Amino acid sequence: MAWKDSYLIGVSLIDEQHKELFERVFDFVGVVRSPALWNDKQKKVEQTLAFMKDYVVIHFKAEENYQEKIGYPFLEEHKKIHSDMVDYVLQVEKEYLKSGASESLMQRFAGRLMSWLINHVASEDRKIGDFSKGKLEASKKMTGSFYEATREVFDLMLNVEASPIKNIDVSAKECITVRIDIYGDREGSVIYQFPKETILNMVKMMSGMEVSEIDEFVTSAAGEIANIISGKALISMSEQDISCDISPPQFSCDANETFVDENTKIYVSTEVGKLTIAVNLIEI
Ligand SMILES: [Fe+2]
Ligand SMILES: [Fe+2]
Repeated sequence: MAWKDSYLIGVSLIDEQHKELFERVFDFVGVVRSPALWNDKQKKVEQTLAFMKDYVVIHFKAEENYQEKIGYPFLEEHKKIHSDMVDYVLQVEKEYLKSGASESLMQRFAGRLMSWLINHVASEDRKIGDFSKGKLEASKKMTGSFYEATREVFDLMLNVEASPIKNIDVSAKECITVRIDIYGDREGSVIYQFPKETILNMVKMMSGMEVSEIDEFVTSAAGEIANIISGKALISMSEQDISCDISPPQFSCDANETFVDENTKIYVSTEVGKLTIAVNLIEI
């Protein structure tokens, strides 16, 4: 069995794909190395080669998408390694046809591919898993500061108590999503999702006026509230010697735009409604 659990990188989507990839690559290697005469196994070699090649492309793409999603800083380098490998496979395929199905070429290719795959998964892909774990830890540690800041802001601005809840089920369509980018000792973003009902109630309370639709006035108020909560969280982080700055709020309809791990989300319930805060930071 070629797969070893020591190759696991801790990201289930990628780990599952790696197992499948190993299976296909080693099927191919197994056929190439089988004792049958080349002429007899040639067809099978070509079939397994095609089957494996398809999956290489699927996997590389999925892995790159994941890296993009978590803001992996070495995405471009990693993409280059992948595309060099794809180029190599295509090159070999071309030479194979030109050579009239050379066995020696396929033997060399299988040997290199196997070694490349093991090394790539165990070293390069592992770094993606390590980055993702580091990010999760850094974010988890900061959720407390954002939660406390949220409680304080609701108390000071609205005289409303906020408490944690398990989760909230709302679609992004019914929300205002505010993203605050953070840079300094921790980098990334914090995403605030205010369901329509919550933000309308908050604005009503602050303004003393009837508000029934999300408009620029309401959106701008939501942005400022996210800004204030973030500012307070950063002050409490600075007391732990973590120094960061924030950039102005940005609005988006896509709540799932960046790395979202359930462990770094804060769900808050108040008498004016609920909200979600996703903390998405890495330690620099
Ligand atoms: Fe991979
Ligand atoms: Fe990779």
